Order: sequence, then structure tokens, then C-alpha cells
Amino acid sequence: MFYIKKEFSERVKRLPKYIFVEIEQLLVEKRKQGVDLIPLGIGDPDLPTPELIITELIEQVKKPENQNYPASMGEDFFREAVSRWYKVRFNVDLDPKEEISNVLGGKEGVANIARAFVNPGDVVLCPNPGYPVYENGATKLCDAEPVSMPILSENQFLPDLNKIEKKYVKKAKLMYLNYPNNPTGAIAPKEFLKKAVDFAEDNGFFIVYDNPYSEFTFGNYIAPSILQIDHNHVEINSASKMFNMTGFRCGWVAGDKDIINGLRNVKSQIDSGCPKFIQRAVSKGLDEYNSNNKPDIVQETVDIYEKRRNILVKGLNDFGWKTAKPKATFYVWTQIPKKYSDIGCMEFVKKLINIGVVITPGIGFGQYGEGFVRFALTQPEERLKEAIERIKTIL
Ligand SMILES: Cc1ncc(COP(=O)(O)O)c(C=O)c1O
Repeated sequence: MFYIKKEFSERVKRLPKYIFVEIEQLLVEKRKQGVDLIPLGIGDPDLPTPELIITELIEQVKKPENQNYPASMGEDFFREAVSRWYKVRFNVDLDPKEEISNVLGGKEGVANIARAFVNPGDVVLCPNPGYPVYENGATKLCDAEPVSMPILSENQFLPDLNKIEKKYVKKAKLMYLNYPNNPTGAIAPKEFLKKAVDFAEDNGFFIVYDNPYSEFTFGNYIAPSILQIDHNHVEINSASKMFNMTGFRCGWVAGDKDIINGLRNVKSQIDSGCPKFIQRAVSKGLDEYNSNNKPDIVQETVDIYEKRRNILVKGLNDFGWKTAKPKATFYVWTQIPKKYSDIGCMEFVKKLINIGVVITPGIGFGQYGEGFVRFALTQPEERLKEAIERIKTIL
């Protein structure tokens, strides 16, 4: 007889229980019953990767020089393309040699930055509601303490920096910020970014500005980069949303060279980089952007999301579900209708699943998301209209 210890590490045990278990079970049941489900839950674009990028990818994958190990920090040509993009898009100068690293999607950047800088017991400031990786994959898996910064509708979904307790601010190693914001669709004015940068620098920590929705803005609004304010921080972006490439896993982190160096150190011990042919294809997309600011390959997608946003928001308001129009992202974040406010967002979402409309309960993004739900605009207009008709029947 022998005994193999398979108990999870303490840090893994700290990860939250998967709260969507009941929802998943309900979905399985509904699928079995043949219910036509309209998936507006996950933020995964339904639109295809632009032809220009796919054509480049097919060309590049055939070349032997693109088939061996890539550098984990990204190839020179890729970092140079990102640097050119920052110049064109934000008028920010970045040295591709030291101030940019490739990552296997923004998610990897979010998590591995913490690995390079956060010690057990350190505090990491995380927006709540927020992208769960800030608290879990980044902070808890470094044995550190996530401290929530509530982002509430009464404060335009911006954190009130003065309300963060001093004892936490003192122990903070870094702060995650994400605008245009998932899940709220909120944007951050440059004045807020300036305030956040001053706050961080006064208190000796840096900001990781997660900016994957930078291109999904509507009307005249153009999302800023935190690097336009100050170079002492880092910003994460990726091809996932910009070019409908969530499955390709290619992103970048840019900014302060010491922070980038820390990330590169971690990555060199963990992964072997994004395939070179993918880096080539993404560089092609970025250079298309560089030669034609906000090119069709991005603008067409933004226009589609804008139309969908208008249809959904109007449809909900028309039958009395008060919902604001987000200025950015492909999410619509709204308080659950009064009629259902006492059952909470989880039960409300289950009611919608029963009529085949799948959305995300706000609580999935943290306790300050309770009372809200998130619609992802990742279905064609006809399906959104159908969802609205179905929701009408229970309100
Ligand atoms: C706020 C935020 N950050 C990061 C990511 C990660 O994106 P990716 O790893 O595909 O670049 C997502 C994806 O949904 C997100 O919403």
C-alpha cells in the first residue's frame, strides 16, 4: 500500500468556489429539453477574425522560421509593431527593447505581473465588481490579499480612492484598474486617471491598467491610455477583442521598464511565448491600424456592437426596464428590474434561463455586483430582438 498526497495547496484552496454550478446545471437541463438558448453571457465575440489577419497567418505558419520556439517576451518585430501602434494610437513613445512584452493574452499578463512583484501578505487593490482574475489568478495565487475597491453606479463606476482604508493603502503593492470597464461598460475620464496615478505614486505602488476594450468605444469617445498620463505604470491590451482573436492568445504589456523586466523574468521560467506566426498575424493587424487610424477591420466591429447596444438598450427601456447606454465595451450592465429586486441577481438569471436567455449575474464579478446583470452583445441583432421579446413575457 502507498499513499499519494493529492491535497490542493493552501493557495489553491483559497480560490472561490465556482458559483455558476447551479446555472451550468440548469443550462445542461435546458439543452437536453431542446430549449433554444440565446447566449449573452460570455464576453467572447461571435464575429470572425478579419480576413487580412487570417491570410497573413496562413502565409506565416508555412514558413519554417516561424515554427520553432518563440521568445517568451515576444519577437522583435512584434514588440516593434506594438510600439508603432502606441505612437499612432496614443502618441506614446515606447522602447520595444525594454518597455514591451508579449503575453499569451491579457489574462496571462494580469496574473503574471503579480507573480513578479507581490509577496505573501501584500495587498493588491482590485475593482469590485471586476474581472475575477485580479483577485484570484493574480492575488490569491500569490498568497496575497485582495482588497476590494467598490465601483458603484453613484460614482460612475469609478473607485473612490479616498475611501480605501489607510492600512491597506500602506501595504498595497499594485492596483488593477480597467476602463473601458468589464462588467459595467463604464469609462474613466483622464482626470480620474491622473488622480489614480498621483494616488499610487504618493503611496509607493504602481497601477496595472487593463485596457482590452480600448477600441470598443462609441460616438466621439476615444479611450485613453494610462501611459499618456505617466510612464511609471503598465498597461495591458490584446488582440482578443480588438481583432476578434480570443482563441489565438496574443497580447502585450507596455510601460515602465522595470515592471516589464519583472514580468519577462517570470515568463521566461513559465512559458515559451506566443507562436511566431500568430505574432506575425497580429503585427499585420496592428500595422493596418498604424497605416489607417481605426481601420475598417476594427471600425466595422465597433459599428456592429453599437447597433446591437442601441437595439438592446432601447428594447429593455421600451418595456420599462431602465437601462443606461454604455459609452464603451460590448457589455450592458443594468440593475435587475424592480419586480425582481428581492430575489437577487442569481435567481433572476435562472428565471431568464428558463425562457432561454442566458446572461451573467453581477455577483459573479464580486459582491458589489449583486443586484445587477451583464448582457454581452455577442449575438446578432435578430437574436437580441428575440431575447427582448422573451424577457417582456416575464416583466
Ligand atoms: C477586463 C478583462 N481583462 C482581461 C481579459 C482577458 O482577455 P484575453 O486574455 O483574451 O486578452 C478580459 C477578457 O474577457 C477582460 O474582460
